[in-house]
Amino acid sequence: MTDIRKIAFIGAGNMTQSIVGGMVSSGYPAEQIFVSNPSSAKLEKMQSTLSVNTSQDNAEIAQQADVIVLAVKPQLMKDVCAALQASVDNLSEKLIITIAAGIRMPKYRQYLNDDIRIIRVMPNTPSLVSKGMSGLVADERVDDADKAYITEVFDGVGETLWVSDEDQLDILGAVAGSGPAYFFEFMAGLQKAAVSLGFDTAKAREMVQQTCLGAAEMAKASELELAELRAQVTSKGGSTAKGVEAYQNADLDGISETAVKAAVKRNQEMAELF
Ligand SMILES: NC(=O)c1ccc[n+]([C@@H]2O[C@H](COP(=O)([O-])OP(=O)(O)OC[C@H]3O[C@@H](n4cnc5c(N)ncnc54)[C@H](OP(=O)(O)O)[C@@H]3O)[C@@H](O)[C@H]2O)c1
Repeated sequence: MTDIRKIAFIGAGNMTQSIVGGMVSSGYPAEQIFVSNPSSAKLEKMQSTLSVNTSQDNAEIAQQADVIVLAVKPQLMKDVCAALQASVDNLSEKLIITIAAGIRMPKYRQYLNDDIRIIRVMPNTPSLVSKGMSGLVADERVDDADKAYITEVFDGVGETLWVSDEDQLDILGAVAGSGPAYFFEFMAGLQKAAVSLGFDTAKAREMVQQTCLGAAEMAKASELELAELRAQVTSKGGSTAKGVEAYQNADLDGISETAVKAAVKRNQEMAELF
């Protein structure tokens, strides 16, 4: 990484651990990274494995940082922001990043300061294995250098995609944020089908996960449309054609659309809650 800033993560949960892990392995100096959490076990682990600075005091690390990453659960965000607002000077000079689902930018301005520069990031759980898909959207006060900086941070745990507004971030969240759960559901169904026909669970799982991984790698490596890739493994009158027909008869496309719309609606409802 080229642009090194003092960055403070508020909350040392799964997401913070994976993002900071990605930063350190990309060469970001650990002495410029600060992490706070109420309990000490996660901090001790991060300090011993990644050599970052840790504290149980959010305000202490936020005060000295150029960038503050809010990485607590959405229901805690209001109180965490209120405490920072009351104790940290010059919040408007710091870049604020939030990874919480649902909460929209005007709420952060209300909780922190009207003049903050803020970027919302929607990572997903495959970030834990450096295969994340993070969506990002910035306030108009954020400049290109801030955007380039945070893109590099999240590129450390996978890929990044900038969207133009918070409505699009809700859609990205419903596809990429929730998507791993949809795939696990689908994979579990395939696994159950193999088990019902006589395979043991471990072998069924192995064949499902490797097939899923292989299909995703093929899709990524190819410039062909997904429908074309599907057609290439579906000989007319063959066994795959029969399987695909069963999915099409059950309207898999329609099910996916219903699922994504339901998740978008829930994201919009959550924006009102916290
Ligand atoms: N996981 C995902 O796939 C995903 C995807 C997109 C967005 N997000 C968002 O990312 C955020 C963090 O998610 P996560 O999965 O990392 O959750 P997590 O593992 O539960 O981490 C949250 C951390 O916040 C700490 N915390 C609680 N109260 C705090 C306070 N007052 N000050 C500072 N830290 C505090 C918790 O500490 P204790 O455990 O000690 O209480 C915990 O370590 C959430 O807002 C979530 O919506 C997550």
